[in-house]
Amino acid sequence: MEISRTEDKISAKIKAIRARIDEAKEHDLYFYNQPIEELCGGARVRTQGREMLMFASYSYLSLIGHPKINAAANAAVDRYGTGTHGVRLLAGTLTLHRELEETIAAFKHTDDAVTFSSGYVTNLTAVSTLVGRHDVVICDKLNHASIVDGCLLSGADFVRFRHNDMADLERCLRRADSRATKLVVVDAVFSMDGDIVDLPKTVELCRQYGAWLMVDEAHSLGVLGQTGRGIEEHFGLGNVIDLKMGTLSKTIPSVGGYLAGDRDMVDLFRHASRAFIFSAALPPAQAAAAKAAFEVILEEPERVETLRRNAAHFMGGLKQMGFDTMKTETAIVPVLCGADELAFEMVRYCQRDDIFVLPVVSPAVPEGQARLRATVIAGHTPEEIDRALGVFEKAGKKVGII
Ligand SMILES: Cc1ncc(COP(=O)(O)O)c(C=O)c1O
Repeated sequence: MEISRTEDKISAKIKAIRARIDEAKEHDLYFYNQPIEELCGGARVRTQGREMLMFASYSYLSLIGHPKINAAANAAVDRYGTGTHGVRLLAGTLTLHRELEETIAAFKHTDDAVTFSSGYVTNLTAVSTLVGRHDVVICDKLNHASIVDGCLLSGADFVRFRHNDMADLERCLRRADSRATKLVVVDAVFSMDGDIVDLPKTVELCRQYGAWLMVDEAHSLGVLGQTGRGIEEHFGLGNVIDLKMGTLSKTIPSVGGYLAGDRDMVDLFRHASRAFIFSAALPPAQAAAAKAAFEVILEEPERVETLRRNAAHFMGGLKQMGFDTMKTETAIVPVLCGADELAFEMVRYCQRDDIFVLPVVSPAVPEGQARLRATVIAGHTPEEIDRALGVFEKAGKKVGII
């Protein structure tokens, strides 16, 4: 007998997404997966034949397309080819991987670092290597999905505290079995809201309750601190985080993720993390690009300062016009719209005026908190920021949110 699949849950999921996409397209409100055809210099890109000003890039220091980084990638292809020979542990480690990891460790002031093929995978493997059944992992409610997935995969008791609420974190730590191994994981900069974790208090609580601390620096590397070294530099705290995680796909214009920390802890990941043992290494071009990018951040420190100035300019302008930019203090600037439709309408008006910005709606953010998630980069000129502000103001008035 043939069993029909047309009414099962997989079919229902496929149909639901199809309907959502089709409806958005019908109303000219589908903005995702827009192909970028080429970089046009500065903060401009060409998409669908039009040159647009980028306000959705994570290349915070505008290092994508930097000549030194491109040259490093090309040279790596000439020397090593385009792939590795397999997984790192067996035949996939190149001298280039070690050089990159030493560069990251020096940049983050740690003994050592290890890299993986994506930031997502790095979080997944970090949490699930460190904790398991009968342990407790404690997370901020707004932590990135990759951390959440790592916690679920680990099988540890998964506890979440209210966003950046240190009293609630303490409550979770106090309630955990005092004999259990405890790991606290937080984002340094929260990816949807742009606000910064209260690191001093988090560190204090972890020490008080004997918990390990892991911090995801996806949006703080190159952004926070005088020299872009991240969250510890921002708070002037020195080396206080047990495990510093970061991506190589945002400020660093490559792909991949890293874990930096104490030598023995890093060696644990090199020999016992499943993403290291069972998945291939970063391709040579990407490893070389990443290494060169860390060097450029130190060689061209003015980029960090320009980014900070640009973020203040953009955020200040939006606030003055009456937009709600939530609690952001960084280069991620949410522009709160409320209902999903308002965010989509805003984006349509902005994109018509050649500002490349995208909406974030539920389930990525809570229902009723749909927003544009604009990002500022060092490559924006003050004139470009003013032009974008003008477009946002016109769109905001049309949609009725200011
Ligand atoms: C906070 C945070 N952590 C981890 C990741 C995953 O990094 P990647 O995109 O490099 O896989 C992201 C990416 O969006 C992120 O925002």
